[in-house]
Amino acid sequence: MLLKGLILAGGYATRLRPLSCTKPKLLFPLVGTPLIERMIEWLGRGNVKEVILAVNHLSDKLRMEVGSKKSGSGVFLSVEETPLGTGGPLRLADKLLAGENPVVVVNGDVAADIDLESLTRTHEMSGADASMTVFSVRDTRPFGLVTLDSDDRIVGFEEKSPLNRGPGWINAGVYILNQNVIEMIPKGRAVSLEREIFPVLAKRGKLKGWKHSGFWYDIGKVQDYVTANMELLARPGYLPGRSGGLAPISSIEQPIYLGDGCLVGKDSKIGPRAILSAGVKVKRGAKIHDSIVFEESVLGENSLVEGSVIGEATTIGKNAVVGSGSIIAGEVTVPDGMTLKPGSIVLN
Ligand code: GTP
Repeated sequence: MLLKGLILAGGYATRLRPLSCTKPKLLFPLVGTPLIERMIEWLGRGNVKEVILAVNHLSDKLRMEVGSKKSGSGVFLSVEETPLGTGGPLRLADKLLAGENPVVVVNGDVAADIDLESLTRTHEMSGADASMTVFSVRDTRPFGLVTLDSDDRIVGFEEKSPLNRGPGWINAGVYILNQNVIEMIPKGRAVSLEREIFPVLAKRGKLKGWKHSGFWYDIGKVQDYVTANMELLARPGYLPGRSGGLAPISSIEQPIYLGDGCLVGKDSKIGPRAILSAGVKVKRGAKIHDSIVFEESVLGENSLVEGSVIGEATTIGKNAVVGSGSIIAGEVTVPDGMTLKPGSIVLN
């Protein structure tokens, strides 16, 4: 069965600032590949051949990406004039989703290897109006906590409870919704699926949980984004084996990732745990480890970058030092010789 999918991609990603000031969350590179590319490929494997991106914030950048050949075919944009929350975009796109039953809905900050075919099959057989992928975590507080009965029906749903109840099942942000659920969403205003729709379905016994046990990351916070990258970097067999141009005299300590067209100068030291997106230039004598660099940035001669994230098209000057835990926004220049203390945040 071919399906249509909708990716919720219109949030402001405030917890990823300042990196998200110039780049929508869906274009954040996950080990060098934009999240949207990974998502569309994953949705395609699950028979989702048409994808609607529900956007408003930084939609021009997403539009350009969708227009480019990599993620383009079968992808449509639905642009909100004002943010419609996690439910309103489904109502807004109901013409694009017309006649589809069921529809796959995905939060635009999830990186996972959920088996969509199996999820859809289980949903079809369950008689539920909606199925929610659930994932087991040690601390449920930052997430939507779900309570399941012995048939995996969701009988309780509590969004971001401040109480620490220890390990439990949480909403993993990937849903299968029948058309009647989309019809439940009020028109023309912001609606939260999590607060307004799922609790009602749970009460009616029409919300099924589907337990996912592979990998799952919510990349909505900088720390979680870094963890997802580093764990995926270390995961054998997960990465496409790409490499850029590496100077023979530079020193490498694995694991590292070099995107297409990276240039690495003489006497530089890359790694361990350095992820450089496409087109990054590491000049002579520069050192980088435990860090992520977005595309087209430049690390100047003899600069040092430790445990940090550097946005796209940023230049780190000659002899500059970026201390551990720093976040440098995209399109920034750190002057030659400057030392940024650990934990520095540099805005655009
Ligand atoms: P924070 O500001 O850091 O909370 O991030 P966020 O609002 O981008 O993400 P949140 O985790 O709150 O939302 C979950 C998903 O829903 C994300 O993929 C968001 O992009 C998306 N989302 C949130 N609000 C909207 C909205 O008003 N419209 C659309 N289309 N998507 C939304």
